[in-house]
Amino acid sequence: MFLPKPKEVLLMGPGPSPVSRDVLSAIGQHTLGHLDADFLDIMNETSSLLRYVFETENEITFPVSGTGSAGMEAAMVNLLEPGDEVIIAVCGVFGQRMVDVASRCGAKVNVVEADWGQPIDPQRVARAVTDNPCSKMIGIVHAETSTGVLQDLKPIKELIEGKDMLLLVDAVTSLGGIPVEVDKLGLDIVYSGNQKCLGAPPGLAPITFNDKALDAVQKRKSKVQSWYLDLTFLTRYWGEERFYHHTAPINMIYGLYEALAEIREEGLVARFTRHSLHSKALVAGLEALGVRPVVDEKDRLASLTAVWIPDGVDDVAVRSGLRRDHLIEIGGGLGPFKGKVWRIGIMGHGARRENVERLVNALAVTLKSLQYSCSLNEAEAAVNSVYKNYAGQ
Ligand SMILES: Cc1ncc(COP(=O)(O)O)c(C=O)c1O
Repeated sequence: MFLPKPKEVLLMGPGPSPVSRDVLSAIGQHTLGHLDADFLDIMNETSSLLRYVFETENEITFPVSGTGSAGMEAAMVNLLEPGDEVIIAVCGVFGQRMVDVASRCGAKVNVVEADWGQPIDPQRVARAVTDNPCSKMIGIVHAETSTGVLQDLKPIKELIEGKDMLLLVDAVTSLGGIPVEVDKLGLDIVYSGNQKCLGAPPGLAPITFNDKALDAVQKRKSKVQSWYLDLTFLTRYWGEERFYHHTAPINMIYGLYEALAEIREEGLVARFTRHSLHSKALVAGLEALGVRPVVDEKDRLASLTAVWIPDGVDDVAVRSGLRRDHLIEIGGGLGPFKGKVWRIGIMGHGARRENVERLVNALAVTLKSLQYSCSLNEAEAAVNSVYKNYAGQ
C-alpha cells in the first residue's frame, strides 16, 4: 500500500467519531456495480435500516452522497424556491449554516436566535410563526455541535400543528445516539451524517422526507436548482425504477449498512442509554478536574459536551498535547467559543467506558504538565461513582 498508515487516534472531538473494525472491513469489500442486483439488495436493506434508526415509515429514506452538509443542502434545494419565506432557529454554527444555505436558495429568511450555549425558546419561534404566517418551513438543529445544546423538538412541532408549514430538522449529531423519533414527533424532513453517532466514516448524509414534505416538493413551480441533489432523480435511483443518476459511493454504502446493522443489533434504547451513561461519567470526571460544562444539565447533549477551558490554560497546548502524547483528539471552540471551549464527543462506537477513562486520565496528566492544579484520583473516583451507581440501579 502507498498510503501512509494512519495512526490509531482516539476520536473524541465533534466528529468524525471512532469506526468499528467491522465497519472498516465492510468498506474494504469488493466493489460492485451501482446497478448490480446484489448491490440493489444492499441499497434496499440500507434504506430499511435507516427507517429503523430514524424511527419512521417514510418511504423516501436514503443516504445522500456527500457529508452532513449535503443533507442540509438536499433538504433546502428541494424544498425552497426563490422568494419563499422561512424561519430558521440559530444558536450556533450549524443553525447559521442553515440560514446561509436557505438564502442561497433565494429564500427570505427570518432568524430566531438564542445565545450560544442556550436552546431556542419556543415562545420566540411562536412569535416568528405569528408574524410570518406564510413561511414554508421552520429549520432547526436538534443537536448543535458547536455548543453542545440539545433542542427539544416537541414544542416547536406543536407550533405548526395543522398549519401549512414544514419542520426541517438537522439531526447530524443526534441520530443513532439520542432519540430523534421522526414519526412520533411528526418531523417532516430530517437529515443526518455518517460520522457522528451512526459510527461510520464521513461521506453520506441519511435523509428522510414524509408525505407532507414530498407534497411541497411536488408543488414547486421552478426546477430544483441543483441537478446533483434533485430529489426526483435521487428517488428514481433509490426507488424501484433504478434509474441511473450518479454512480453511488458503493463502498461507503457498505460501511453505512454495517454501522446501521450494528445499531439494530444493539437496539436503539440500549444505544441511547449507552450514550447517556458515558456522557454522564465524562462530565463527572471533567467537573472533578475543575473543567465545567457550558450547557445546563437539562439542555445538555449526550453526544457532545462543550466545556469551559479553565482560566490560564492554553487551549492549543492542551489539545496538541493530547494528540501528541496520548493519541486523543478533542475539538476546539468555534466562533465566539474559539479559545474558550473544548468540545468532547461521546459518539457511536466511541461511547464506551475505556475511552472516558483514557481521556480523563490524559487530560489530567496534560493539565498538570501545564502547571494547572487538579487531582486525577478525584476525577477517577467521580467517573467510577457514575458507573457504580448505574450498575447498582
Ligand atoms: C449539527 C451539524 N450539522 C451539519 C454538519 C455538517 O456536516 P458535515 O461536516 O459532515 O458536512 C455538522 C458537522 O459537524 C453538524 O455538527
